[in-house]
Amino acid sequence: MKLRHLPLVAALVVTSLLAAGCASVGGQDQVVRVYSARQYDLEPAFQKFFQETGIKVEFLYGTDAELRERIKAEGKDTLADVYMTVDAGNLATAAKDGMFQPLDSTVLDDAVPKNFRDPEDRWFGLSERVRTIIYNPDKVKPSELSTYEDLANLKWKGRLCLRRSTNVYTQSLVASLIARDGEQKATEVVKGWADNAADMFNNDVEIVNNVGSGRCDVGIVNHYYLARVMQENPDINVKLFWANQSTSGVHVNISGAGVTRYADNPDLAQKLLEWLATDGQQEFVNGNNEYPVNPDVKPDPLIAKFGEFKADSLDAATFGELNPEAIKVMADAGYE
Ligand SMILES: [Fe+2]
Repeated sequence: MKLRHLPLVAALVVTSLLAAGCASVGGQDQVVRVYSARQYDLEPAFQKFFQETGIKVEFLYGTDAELRERIKAEGKDTLADVYMTVDAGNLATAAKDGMFQPLDSTVLDDAVPKNFRDPEDRWFGLSERVRTIIYNPDKVKPSELSTYEDLANLKWKGRLCLRRSTNVYTQSLVASLIARDGEQKATEVVKGWADNAADMFNNDVEIVNNVGSGRCDVGIVNHYYLARVMQENPDINVKLFWANQSTSGVHVNISGAGVTRYADNPDLAQKLLEWLATDGQQEFVNGNNEYPVNPDVKPDPLIAKFGEFKADSLDAATFGELNPEAIKVMADAGYE
């Protein structure tokens, strides 16, 4: 069954992955309900979870902000056991708004590295996404590339394709600059990016395609968008470059989840998160060409081809903490 995208205003129409044969306790099906802003295809992972545990997973889809508003509005009556989303910025916002309950889970503590989970155990990263530099090899030699900060240099004037400031991926990347370089330096860098932009985009796939067509020479995208485009168009003229390898390391963000404060089934919800971080980790990350958070699990061959990288060791929680500053820095710098 294809998962459906439901508007916020619709009554909760839960879409179960498997129609029949679920386990039951006291005649009741065991169900975990997930409000998910992950809108790509994770079906195989949740099917496997059902096969292994007999617990059904049902979804309501929406945007990050819509789902947070909904959980807030529903309060104690919410049907959400889990809020699942992309980017630590979104998870931190949900935590700040009191939407999660802390989990006491040695499974999650062992599987998820410390910098990819909330210091108060309210949310956990379940997969990694790396936001890095891509380039058109007809226009740029990799030796000309180095850091995100260097893309503010005049030599890149009119050559960059960038994601708009309204996007949380951009906001988290800028938050990492602020954490590393301070607000003043970050503002200078962001201003340089804005001055050097050939164009700004609302999605990363367009950035990949515009670098491929030569409309711009360099872009910044999440690695899995390049993987996805390459799967459909293996000859696309775009290469990946791991940013900041001789300095801070490349920017790594997460997608993840937490158990909601008023979950009806907190134990099943915790079990789902634990499974996704361990036994189900491979299926979960492969569904979106992401890197595993669990160091015992290997990346799938398609993205393993991008090679090894040094990752920035910043806590993902920092991206959430510095999100308001990141938005302010971009406004001050004229980065739209
Ligand atoms: Fe994405």
